[in-house]
Amino acid sequence: MLYPQYVIDDLKVRADLVRLIQPYAPDLKKKGANWMACCPFHQEKTPSFSVNPVKGFYKCFGCGKGGTAFNFVMEIEGLNFPEAIKRVAESAGYILPEPVDDAQYAASKKKREEKKQLADQIVELNQVALEFWEGELQSKDAKTAREYLAGRGISEEIHKRFRIGYSPDKWDALIGVLRDFGADEKLIARSGLVSVNEEKERTYDRFRGRIMFPVLDVDGRPVAFGARALKPEDNPKYLNSPETPAYVKGDNLYGLYQGKDEIRKKKFAILVEGYLDLIALAQFGISNTAASLGTAFTPEQAKLIGRYAKRIVINYDGDDAGVKAARRAIEHLLPQDFDVKVLVLPDGMDPDDFIRENGTDEYNRRRGQAATFLRFSLDAAVKGRNIHNARQKAEAIEEFLPIVGAISNNIQRRETFDQAMNFFHVEDAGLRRELWSRRDSRLRAAS
Ligand code: CTP
Ligand code: MN
Repeated sequence: MLYPQYVIDDLKVRADLVRLIQPYAPDLKKKGANWMACCPFHQEKTPSFSVNPVKGFYKCFGCGKGGTAFNFVMEIEGLNFPEAIKRVAESAGYILPEPVDDAQYAASKKKREEKKQLADQIVELNQVALEFWEGELQSKDAKTAREYLAGRGISEEIHKRFRIGYSPDKWDALIGVLRDFGADEKLIARSGLVSVNEEKERTYDRFRGRIMFPVLDVDGRPVAFGARALKPEDNPKYLNSPETPAYVKGDNLYGLYQGKDEIRKKKFAILVEGYLDLIALAQFGISNTAASLGTAFTPEQAKLIGRYAKRIVINYDGDDAGVKAARRAIEHLLPQDFDVKVLVLPDGMDPDDFIRENGTDEYNRRRGQAATFLRFSLDAAVKGRNIHNARQKAEAIEEFLPIVGAISNNIQRRETFDQAMNFFHVEDAGLRRELWSRRDSRLRAAS
């Protein structure tokens, strides 16, 4: 019996190595990016056992033992691999699916490989579409589109950098191009580039008369598209690619491909909501950015950004939805040990509105004064509530507690909790203890 590979991959990300190892190495302490302790596998007086919770492995420089969370419990408890999976899942609060037998496993492996192949073929079609739409932006029919972009202050240099395009207002413009390319009808139907009318068995271009924003993965491969309507009365304002074998929502960030070098250089990333927020910032010379595109921020997206920097400024819209989304993002960034700040611009403005009105210097000044995640989360929890009312205060605390549970570093977790309790004027030690003991189960319930 085996667990599917995705379970193992998932667990590798979710495993909390520090929590897992601490019982066997009580002196485990944070030292820079790593944690150090006296090695639990051999006798020693000075610590040479190092744990890197972010990368998910440990290594002893004394005895040479090292590996992942699975290796650790196998070695220290003498477990076999399936047992180790169970043990790591338990400590990470991860609910395991039923294991599969060998035949099922082989079948699922084959299916995964087929899916990967299909994904590659769809990316190839997306590339054809991208180039077609990019060219179309220069056409006579795209005059309105070009004027729209110019009206929003977007230069041609930015069109090129983000490969912005225009989809002709026709039912079969792209389909014709895909057929000429020699694409198979079945593949076209699954690509997300067309819509299929089941009854009439008719296939037609999904994107018509819209400005096209390709979503590139971190290797620059087009996995999906976002498409903005040109007229205010066109609905929806943004039409996005559906999920396909090449595109899982929440697995990518818009603009990260163009922004990753700058993020690495500046050592922090600015996270925005919309396509045009990111593009406006780029237009004003700010490129250490990524956009989550109005969907809920995911742990996978956090992991992607974490490859380039561990500091992040969340700059979502200032409306209620934006504040809620920012909270969600914080809860997924803290477990991966990010240093998180939140920038809320005045008058509910989004980054695009703000920077066009106030310019780069003023934007940077505000960004430099962004609130800590703690300040922001406390403010968000009490907003619209009267915390002199016991019931509303309890609600505010409930809402805030998952943030504490999400913090990966245990010293920071405790300090944050204490500061929050002071903020809420929870003085009773018994009550504090009870709330403290509940922070973890809340995080699990929320994730
Ligand atoms: N979005 C979407 N579908 C919609 C509305 C929004 O996918 N019908 C996503 C888009 O990625 C959009 C983001 O959510 O960029 C933010 O939405 P919103 O704030 O409404 O739009 P803006 O980014 O401000 O767009 P614009 O400035 O072009 O009006
Ligand atoms: Mn906007």
